[in-house]
Amino acid sequence: MKKIKKAIIPAAGLGTRFLPETKAMPKEMLPVVDTPAIQLIVEEAKASGITDILIIIGKGKRAIEDHFDSNTELELNLAEKHKDKMLEAVQKTNGLNIYFKRQAHPNGLGDAVHTAKSFVGDDPFVIMLGDDLMQSDVPLTKQLIDSYEQTSASTLAVMRVPHEETSKYGVINPTKEISDGLYDVTSFVEKPAPEDAPSDLAIIGRYLLTPKIFEILENTKPGKGNEIQLTDAIDTLNKTDKVYAHEFKGSRFDTGNKFSWLKTNIEFGLKHPEVSEQLKSYIKELAEKINTDEK
Ligand code: G1P
Repeated sequence: MKKIKKAIIPAAGLGTRFLPETKAMPKEMLPVVDTPAIQLIVEEAKASGITDILIIIGKGKRAIEDHFDSNTELELNLAEKHKDKMLEAVQKTNGLNIYFKRQAHPNGLGDAVHTAKSFVGDDPFVIMLGDDLMQSDVPLTKQLIDSYEQTSASTLAVMRVPHEETSKYGVINPTKEISDGLYDVTSFVEKPAPEDAPSDLAIIGRYLLTPKIFEILENTKPGKGNEIQLTDAIDTLNKTDKVYAHEFKGSRFDTGNKFSWLKTNIEFGLKHPEVSEQLKSYIKELAEKINTDEK
C-alpha cells in the first residue's frame, strides 16, 4: 500500500469576512497568539508524516510564500545570540517540501483542489482546510491516514454540530457505524438547510482522497453558490468507490470568522506558557467589571 505523503492546503480565498484586515494580508496569516493559522495546519501535516505540501494561493498571498521560506539572516542572528527557543519557533516547519500554485480564477473548493492534479499524480493524498484547527492526542490527519491503512478507502473527517448550523457545512447521510467512529455513508450534501440536513455530522476540513477524485472534478457542474463543490465530487466518488466518514472526537477551533477567531485566540492563549497566567487574571477582572457594569 502506498504511504500517504502529500497534502493540499487551499488558501486562495479572498478573506472578505476579515476586511479591512485582509486588504493586504492573507487571512491564513492571521495569528493564533503568535503563530499564523496556516503554520498550525502545516505542523499538523508534519506530525502526521506528510512530507510534500502544495499550498494553493491567489493574488495578494505572497506573505504565505515568504513565511515558509527560510530566513537565513534571522536564523543566524538568533543562533549567535543563543535565542534557542525563538530559533526553534522559526524552524518548526523546516524539512518539508512546500510548493505553491496559483489559482487564477477562484471558482470554489472543488476547483481549487482540481488545480493540484499534477502534484498529486497517482497517490492518495490529504486535503487540509486552513480555517479549521484541530487539537487531539493523535493529529486528525494521522487518524485519517491510520484509517486508510485499514480500509484503503477515501475517508473524510466529520464532527457533530448544532442542528441549526448545518447550512455552514457539508453534511453526511450516515448509514451505519462500521467500527468505532467510522461510518458508511449514503450521500454527502453541501450546506443543507437544517430542515433538509440528513444528519448533524458535518465535514470539518480534513479529507483523505484517492486520485480518482480528479476525473470526477473535471465533470462536476457548479453546485451551491454556483461554484464547483468538493462535496458534490465526493458524493459522486462514493457511488463507485467507498468514501467513509471518520468522527473526530478532539477539539476543533474555527478561525473563519471574527468571533470564532477571537475565541480561538483566547483558548490558545489560555494554554500558552508565556501568557496564560496573565490572560486568566485579565479574563477574571474583565468578567467582574462586566458583572458590576450590568448591575
Ligand atoms: C468548506 C466545505 C464544506 C465543509 C467546510 C468545513 O466550506 O465546502 O463542505 O464543511 O469547508 O470547514 P467553507 O467553510 O469553505 O464555506
